[in-house]
Amino acid sequence: MSEFAKKLIAWQRRNGRHDLPWQTQDPYCVWLSEIMLQQTQVDTVIPYYQRFLARCPDVASLAAAPLDDVLALWSGLGYYARARNLHSAARSVMEKHGGQFPRTAAGLAELPGIGRSTAAAVASFCFGERVAILDGNVKRVLCRHFAIEGYPGERAVEQKLWALAESLLPAKDISIYPQAQMDLGAMICTRSKPRCLHCPVNATCQARAEGRENELPTARPRKTVPERSCGVLLLRCQGTILLEQRPAAGIWGGLYSLPEMLEEESAAECALRRFGLSKLKFVAGEDLHHSFTHFGLTLTPWQAELRKLPLQVNAPNLRWVAQQELEGIGLPAPIRKLVERSFEPEKA
Ligand code: ADE
Repeated sequence: MSEFAKKLIAWQRRNGRHDLPWQTQDPYCVWLSEIMLQQTQVDTVIPYYQRFLARCPDVASLAAAPLDDVLALWSGLGYYARARNLHSAARSVMEKHGGQFPRTAAGLAELPGIGRSTAAAVASFCFGERVAILDGNVKRVLCRHFAIEGYPGERAVEQKLWALAESLLPAKDISIYPQAQMDLGAMICTRSKPRCLHCPVNATCQARAEGRENELPTARPRKTVPERSCGVLLLRCQGTILLEQRPAAGIWGGLYSLPEMLEEESAAECALRRFGLSKLKFVAGEDLHHSFTHFGLTLTPWQAELRKLPLQVNAPNLRWVAQQELEGIGLPAPIRKLVERSFEPEKA
């Protein structure tokens, strides 16, 4: 068994995290937490995780829930493909696996949205399978400890890291080891200012020996992302606001949003074209910038007040929503911010 794994396991027992709410052997809970934690920090995830489990306590209830409810529970966590895959994986577990999660990493990896590392995390935490994980934390730890050069998102570097991760697997304490690696990455071998003095494997760390802990892992090659801008309508009427459900495919698929203006039109032209509304007085609010993986988006809200609910503004994907209903509706985080701002008059 590698000294590396042995030291990490001993360190985890004494100094690692033991009270995270998903530290159970229930594959549903572990899977749900691993998906939430893929792009989101532990502190942010905890309240979402608890709310999700209260509404969908097991895989059967998740599979039976409407996708809209799942998106609403996910609302604010971002990367909504995770929620759609989660829902579809739950249905697959019910329909193809008799309600039981596959008990191997290979079987788990066949479910939608479960990649190799997530499958391995669930299989080792819950079923004690001897398989390697390789998430962002583990990549950082390995790149530093073994002075691996190259951006870890690159295929060749990633393959090298997988082989290395497998070669380091311990013979026993299989379900402690992945948590040890995650904890080391989150608590000691952090992205910036790693706490090397407290690291259980600092004596053998190559990056530390060479004074390169701030250079490794190699950063992602810089690419500039394109910037887009878009005007949105904040149509207000009697304490409600008009929301529109987006098509299932594409960005923010299935979530509610604000009606979007075309590039070449004004807010008044958009209100007329989309809803046959005229004579509205629009006021522009403060811009909001949001960074997606592949582009940046600046949203400009245009607000107008209607005195009477216009009957012609009526379609299955349109809803006039009051402030107290917002929590139960799946809204992308930047849109939620714009909508909430408009309900706070001093900030609108
Ligand atoms: N990040 C990914 N999985 C995790 C886990 N099980 N505990 C803490 N952070 C994590």
